Amino acid sequence: MSAAHSVITIDGPAASGKSSIARLVAQRLGRTYVNTGNMYRAMTWAVLQAGVDPQDADAVRAAAADIVIESPVIEGKTQVCVSGRPLTDAELNSDPVNRAVSFIARVAEVRDRLVADQRALATIGPLVMEGRDIGSVVFPDSPHKIYVDATEEVRASRRGAQGLSDQIAERDRIDKQRKNSPLVIPRGAIVIDNSHITLDQAVDQVIATLQLT
Ligand code: CDP
Ligand code: CDP
Repeated sequence: MSAAHSVITIDGPAASGKSSIARLVAQRLGRTYVNTGNMYRAMTWAVLQAGVDPQDADAVRAAAADIVIESPVIEGKTQVCVSGRPLTDAELNSDPVNRAVSFIARVAEVRDRLVADQRALATIGPLVMEGRDIGSVVFPDSPHKIYVDATEEVRASRRGAQGLSDQIAERDRIDKQRKNSPLVIPRGAIVIDNSHITLDQAVDQVIATLQLT
């Protein structure tokens, strides 16, 4: 494998602003943007298509072994494909996927595969990668780690304003309590609470904080 490029890691709870901030930071710095949540969402969509109970870890493990997920880079960001077909935002963010994704994401074999794919992306060029375990597990040695937060009320109201029904508190609970790679503030991460600032202000803070040379 060729040498890994630098990765800015952005982690945080559901609807904290990670994707919007990561996408804009990547644009401003000319890096590729990687949304790892969409990889777990694509796996979840495919597991549900296969008719598997998301809470049955053995059945999920067996189904996942036959599911092909790819993340080609298109126009500066990763697209997520199942068996070569790109999934739409509506498919990735559907209610059934929102309800099931945290159960799929706690299966170790699923995580191992997707983490390997995420690490491989760092060979293509400098990245901004966001998720739940990017600074703690996927790239723990990165010197550029951010943890984005916002109050639960603000996060729920922003998700509602997107027209999405999403049990964010329940997903956070499962993501923080799971045994494999739980959501934590990674060691060395700078915490940015963007409850009361605009997206542009949050992006400015992230870029100022990183002090990239
Ligand atoms: O955008 P939002 O914060 O609502 O969620 P997401 O980033 O799309 O992630 C969806 C789910 O995938 C999370 O609730 C986690 O269960 C899982 N996930 C994970 O376990 N590890 C990651 N690196 C990214 C997402
Ligand atoms: O990726 P994650 O689920 O953490 O959050 P997001 O999808 O990037 O953000 C959820 C919503 O909050 C989006 O509509 C953002 O535009 C909005 N947002 C905001 O209004 N102000 C901020 N400071 C951050 C995000």
